[in-house]
Amino acid sequence: MPSLNDIRSTFLNYFEKQGHAVVPSSPLVPRNDPTLMFVNSGMVQFKNLFTGLEKRDYTRATSAQKCVRAGGKHNDLDNVGYTARHHTFFEMLGNFSFGDYFKHEAIPFAWNLITGEFGIPKDRLYVTVYHTDDEAFEIWKKVGVPEDRIIRIATSDNFWQMGPTGPCGPCTEIFYDHGDHIWGGPPGSPEEDGDRFIEIWNIVFMQNEQFEDGSMIDLEMQSIDTGMGLERIGALLQGSHDNYDTDLFKSLIEASADVTGVDPYGDQNVHHRVIADHLRSTSFLIADGVMPSNDGRGYVLRRIMRRAMRHAHLLGAKDPVMYRLVPALVQQMGAAYPELGQAQALITETLQAEETRFKQTLDRGLKLLDDEVAGLADDADLPGAAAFKLYDTYGFPLDLTQDALREKGRGVDTEGFDAAMAEQKAKARAAWSGSGEAADATVWFDLADSHAATDFLGYDTEIAEGVVLAIVSEGAEVPSLDVDGGGAWVVFNQTPFYAESGGQVADHGHVRIVEGSQEEYETRFSGHVSDVQKRAGGLYAHYVTVDSGQLAVGDPVRLEVDHVRRTTIRANHSATHLLHEALRNALGDHVAQRGSLNAPDRLRFDFSHGKAMSLEELNTVEAEVNAYIRQNAPVETRIMTPDDARDLGAQALFGEKYGDEVRVVSMGTEAGSGKGISGDTYSLELCGGTHVRQTGDIGAFVTLGDSASSAGVRRIEALTGQAAMKHLRDQEGLLARTATELKAQAQDVPARVKALMDERKALAAEVAQLRRDLAMAGGGQAAPEAEDVNGTPFLAQVLSGVTGRDLPALIDEHKSRMGTGAILLIADADGKVAVAAGVTQDKTDSVNAVDLVKAAVVELGGKGGGGRPDMAQGGAKDAANADAAIAAAKAVMGG
Ligand code: ALA
Repeated sequence: MPSLNDIRSTFLNYFEKQGHAVVPSSPLVPRNDPTLMFVNSGMVQFKNLFTGLEKRDYTRATSAQKCVRAGGKHNDLDNVGYTARHHTFFEMLGNFSFGDYFKHEAIPFAWNLITGEFGIPKDRLYVTVYHTDDEAFEIWKKVGVPEDRIIRIATSDNFWQMGPTGPCGPCTEIFYDHGDHIWGGPPGSPEEDGDRFIEIWNIVFMQNEQFEDGSMIDLEMQSIDTGMGLERIGALLQGSHDNYDTDLFKSLIEASADVTGVDPYGDQNVHHRVIADHLRSTSFLIADGVMPSNDGRGYVLRRIMRRAMRHAHLLGAKDPVMYRLVPALVQQMGAAYPELGQAQALITETLQAEETRFKQTLDRGLKLLDDEVAGLADDADLPGAAAFKLYDTYGFPLDLTQDALREKGRGVDTEGFDAAMAEQKAKARAAWSGSGEAADATVWFDLADSHAATDFLGYDTEIAEGVVLAIVSEGAEVPSLDVDGGGAWVVFNQTPFYAESGGQVADHGHVRIVEGSQEEYETRFSGHVSDVQKRAGGLYAHYVTVDSGQLAVGDPVRLEVDHVRRTTIRANHSATHLLHEALRNALGDHVAQRGSLNAPDRLRFDFSHGKAMSLEELNTVEAEVNAYIRQNAPVETRIMTPDDARDLGAQALFGEKYGDEVRVVSMGTEAGSGKGISGDTYSLELCGGTHVRQTGDIGAFVTLGDSASSAGVRRIEALTGQAAMKHLRDQEGLLARTATELKAQAQDVPARVKALMDERKALAAEVAQLRRDLAMAGGGQAAPEAEDVNGTPFLAQVLSGVTGRDLPALIDEHKSRMGTGAILLIADADGKVAVAAGVTQDKTDSVNAVDLVKAAVVELGGKGGGGRPDMAQGGAKDAANADAAIAAAKAVMGG
């Protein structure tokens, strides 16, 4: 007997052999369809290939697609567990042709697979065709289906449409007859809703496109889209008509029986079935990035989780159950869907946290429900107010209450429930109106009443489709916006744009409406988003400026975040977390975040610290951040209660109010840090921002220094990635320029030294000359005059500030000026006394210069002296007795 895994492989291999590309399942959250809550059939990821808007390098494809039908239009949640074939999660096997083959190939492909490979007896099979589709009728006849088993159906059952708009076409369906032991009739008969004839495969001839105004055109391409539920075909091939009897479900049901200790196939079987089904949808949703919340997709997930928990409770489970079943699921489906194994830890923790939390109110809520029901008349519905109390106080989603009452054969007064809900909103609004917020906020409160919170998709994608829910211009709602209107705030049902919060700036990007089919399409609207703000009720307001065309409420649009800008913001935000931790390590635990800015061009982090950081501290912090960047560790996010997050050691903003659940961002591995699930997380913070996937994506980190922000608060500004590299390069450039200049200057040094020395020499010569001039001019004293001593003109002079070296030149000058005579000069400079005497040649016979010097020197406290008869010099100590020295010289001359 083939297992579900075998059947999936057989299907994909069969079509691969027929030239089909095996395409992996797309994630459950549709990236390309704004109206769809979850992917609900195989063709969703190929939607734009049918219309020709998108081209890929294959025209034949096959896939096993994960589908969830638990929210929006197709909602099977209420029935799951109680029927043979309802699921919140299922796999759709399909083959697709994009303008390649059409009916003539698609029908034999299907027929040969089920009657050949799968070996289903032909006499058990019936087919339906759209009543006007003679071509399909003929092809079926040709492959061997008897005419009386080809049923024409006139209703929309055989005209398949993916939604109100989009590609569509007539279809043909294959039915299996389980035999007359089961009640039911063939399709089109009054008994068709019975379980005897089961549809196993739908083949859609994609040849039309439906537009909003009701018109339908023929597509240029004729394409094929098929869908076969794996669980259904699995049951059939395993000899059952109940999907829960397949090998895969049995193993999950048995795992549920193991952990609860309750017989898997006894009268409690329904609870195990619910648990098995819900385990699949919750695990796959979490693996695809959905987290439990109170809005949108997250709330659908929460409803499924809580429904499963109530059924576990009915099995008598005292402790959380679901998270313990994850290994059984991964064992069954992990090979076909690797994302399941990759997210195993996240799935386990998310389930356990939600179960632990809900457990706290589940028992009390169920008790309240029992009490309420006990007081009701036999067939009365539960009053809306009681259902609302269960919702509001005990966290019971309405469908959980309905599910619980179903077993007791009762319903809920849903109108009363809605009225109670509306009343609570009105109260909240009244309380808010008095809070003095800006007047134009009223419009946002009105919008919050009529629209669910915007679903933020931007953690996983930067491009998504959305629908315009409202346009607000100058504080009032307007139906449309065009170029003349300039800009306005626009709300979409979902968005990849991050709204400014937690220090992270808003994303920028584009809004477009692209229309048309095949090769020809045009841009009907183009605008750009320059700001995004969160408003009342979790609505995201995008400030859109029109570039061309018109945008109206209800328009489906393509939203594209500026990728480069977002990338740098991510890097800066993640670097801020690393910086925070590095600062605590370097400076101490008193370091707490006081503010931050995560912009595309830089990051800023304010933190409590009493004094300026030293260069060494800054260097240490910068090096540590870079070390964790190089570690290239994955950045992980988890959703948990604020208390659980703090228990794990997460940094939270002091004084910040956190909701029921918080997002925890962890990055880096530090053995023994004691933080995080594994106890070795480096940085762990509560944070709603967008982050890099691996720390290595930050690239590099440089601080621009630390400064004072306010008393006791320091501020660090820093750069990452390319900006950091550019900064370093600029710095390097500056250093290089300085070095070049210094080098050029160094080469000049010898020349400059020589020039300086020359200059010095010239100056010295000048100074000497000036001194001599000064001396000749009388050295600042009375001009010297010669006197006659014993028939010889004699000149004596005391010169202060003149050194001995200058004296011979001065003597020569006096000689030539006087023509004949004797000269005695006493120089006194810097505590040194020098004496010099000169005698013109004509007088050397009568006067000896040496004698003059010797006589003078003695008087001046010196000794000796020497030279020639015409010029002699000597040194002495003290110029105070200059007059006596002059007199002594005169005496030598006989004066
Ligand atoms: N898209 C088709 C379906 O979902 C095959 O039934």
